[in-house]
Amino acid sequence: MITFVLLIERGTFFGVGDLLPFWVADMDFRVAEPIIEALRERVDHGIYGYTIRQDSYYYAIIGWTKNRLGWEIEKEWIEYTPGVVPAINYAIQALCEPGDKIVIQQPVYYPFKNSILNNGCHVVNNPLVENGDHYDIDLADLEEKLKDPKVTMFILCSPHNPVSRVWTEEELRRIGELCLENNVVLISDEIHNDLVYSGNKHIMIASSDERFAMNTITCTAP
Ligand SMILES: Cc1ncc(COP(=O)(O)O)c(C=O)c1O
Repeated sequence: MITFVLLIERGTFFGVGDLLPFWVADMDFRVAEPIIEALRERVDHGIYGYTIRQDSYYYAIIGWTKNRLGWEIEKEWIEYTPGVVPAINYAIQALCEPGDKIVIQQPVYYPFKNSILNNGCHVVNNPLVENGDHYDIDLADLEEKLKDPKVTMFILCSPHNPVSRVWTEEELRRIGELCLENNVVLISDEIHNDLVYSGNKHIMIASSDERFAMNTITCTAP
């Protein structure tokens, strides 16, 4: 193995005999003109974002969601955004009016609050309750707050950052039902769904009931 590496290095730097330098990508010859031309065209375009999503992108998400989280989703349900925080902002802009109230459960990942305020809405806090070595949801308080007709959205963090709770099926069911009863759209930030210690099981809230799925935007990322 070592001999092999040395030969390639020597071929690259000293042009030994007829060795061809198949090194990582540092070619020692000029690239073909059509490639230079294609690069020039791309550079002249001036927009360098990830603009193409091939089928493999969707199949990776569909496969992961099915194999790891037991939920069969369809390609048409998936919408690309440049991040979870942008997704939350787009959801607020698309589904709320300025002046609407949006429920979050503090302490929570701070961009939730900023996204609400930056889009002209009001934060309604359903504070998590410290209970020994973990935090719980005050479901009675949540029920009261969701009843307010000015509340149009609830942004759930599941699993929760920073309190590290993996919500149980029972808790998620209650949240799902309360949102439906009060006509409140649920945004479920599930970006941390892969970071769950053994003994816990992450449940995607939208996967637990078709009615919840119809009322939920689930946000994930690789
Ligand atoms: C709960 C939560 N949502 C979203 C993000 C960031 O998402 P993105 O970088 O895709 O906007 C983080 C990052 O720490 C997070 O903790």
